[in-house]
Amino acid sequence: HAFHPLDISAIAFWEKDFRNRDDTFAELRAVDGLTWHRPTESMFPHEETGYWAVTRHADIRHVSQHPELFSSSNGISMDPMPAEIQRSMTFFLTMDPPEHTRYRRLISMAFTPKQVRRIEAQIEANAKRIVGELLDDLDSGEPVDFTDAVSKKLPMLTISEMIGIHPDEHEAVAFAAESVFSASDDEYAGGLEEQAVFLMTQLGILTGAGVELAKKRRLDPRDDLMTNIVNAEVDGHRLTDDEIGAFMVLLGSAGNDTTKQTTSHAFKALIDNPDQRRWLLEDLEGRIGGAVDEFIRWSTPVISFARHAAVDTEIAGTPIAAGEKVVLFYCSGNFDDQVFDDPYRFDLDRFPNPHVGFGGGGPHFCLGKQLAVMELKHLFTELLTRLPDVELGDPEYVRSDFVHGVKRMPIRRV
Ligand code: HEM
Repeated sequence: HAFHPLDISAIAFWEKDFRNRDDTFAELRAVDGLTWHRPTESMFPHEETGYWAVTRHADIRHVSQHPELFSSSNGISMDPMPAEIQRSMTFFLTMDPPEHTRYRRLISMAFTPKQVRRIEAQIEANAKRIVGELLDDLDSGEPVDFTDAVSKKLPMLTISEMIGIHPDEHEAVAFAAESVFSASDDEYAGGLEEQAVFLMTQLGILTGAGVELAKKRRLDPRDDLMTNIVNAEVDGHRLTDDEIGAFMVLLGSAGNDTTKQTTSHAFKALIDNPDQRRWLLEDLEGRIGGAVDEFIRWSTPVISFARHAAVDTEIAGTPIAAGEKVVLFYCSGNFDDQVFDDPYRFDLDRFPNPHVGFGGGGPHFCLGKQLAVMELKHLFTELLTRLPDVELGDPEYVRSDFVHGVKRMPIRRV
């Protein structure tokens, strides 16, 4: 296929606010059918011809909801890295039903609404403490990095406490988890080869931490997710060390970095839109739920996931051959004017808000949605009611094709 001239890799946009990508995606959504694009530059050179860009909301939902047509097992990242490497980072995200169903069922035990409510009091207490510490930091009058002081903390504490990670290891696990998503940022390593080595090192740290913790829980069971995992069986066998390592990477990264990024983007949007902030504060308890939906739509922390056609099929009239790759651009679907009125307006009163930030439905739909929503509700309730007026410096964005990330965002008391 002929390549479309528009470069839609996030890396092409990373230096600017990501809102600069909106025109590009609006242009692609208006094209009949799909467009074919060059593969992104990969840390792990790998044969790949290109991919179809799925940019419309309806098409993203169609692909997500038909795993029999669009498979996950040949890789799910926009980066064309080999599927085996992807699997070690994403566990059952890179599987198809029925294999996927068996593993997902196992991990789902920890994410039932009942289980999530069980840890709500702890999430609320952690949110209060984090905001209390932020207030102390701001008192100094010096700029504080919001991502470091706030965004990263609640998700890290929540997932670490659920899995059973020792507090001494929280920082290292969180750093490794963040690196899995943003290894392409040259803050960590320059050059693709160095980045690949860095990524594999951080993956090793995460998987090693998982395997060590599993060992401890086999000897000394506790009331935590790792104890359940080491005791559970899938297809009549206990999870292998490789599987436990991949579980740790998936939950460590999915549970940490996504919610962190939404926190930074949403905080910025609230400062940039004081009318929206005032409206929310008029009935915080009644409105925060809908507001969090808009936080997710607006921030879309996961830029894209991919699939490969399992059979010859079509999307929006474009024939797709078996084996071809399709990339689901959630960051485009969430701004599709066929679904969202005035999509580039940050509108906390948007209803309904059928965003695809947690995926387009189907078997891989985000397992941590309730948990993420609960964290964001408590954190923003605290921030909005207790924080004095602050001034925001320029955010620095993560250079990544996968995560819509904010590296640093200074704030200062005014
Ligand atoms: C899957 C987004 C928070 C655990 C996903 C997917 C997306 C996503 C887009 C893929 C959906 C698909 O392929 O159809 C987000 C966002 C979050 C968030 C935007 C926060 C703002 C969390 C949290 C956890 C979590 C807090 C766990 C603690 C998972 C897992 C999967 C997943 C385990 C894989 C599900 C599967 O393959 O069956 N998430 N996520 N996520 N997420 Fe989340």
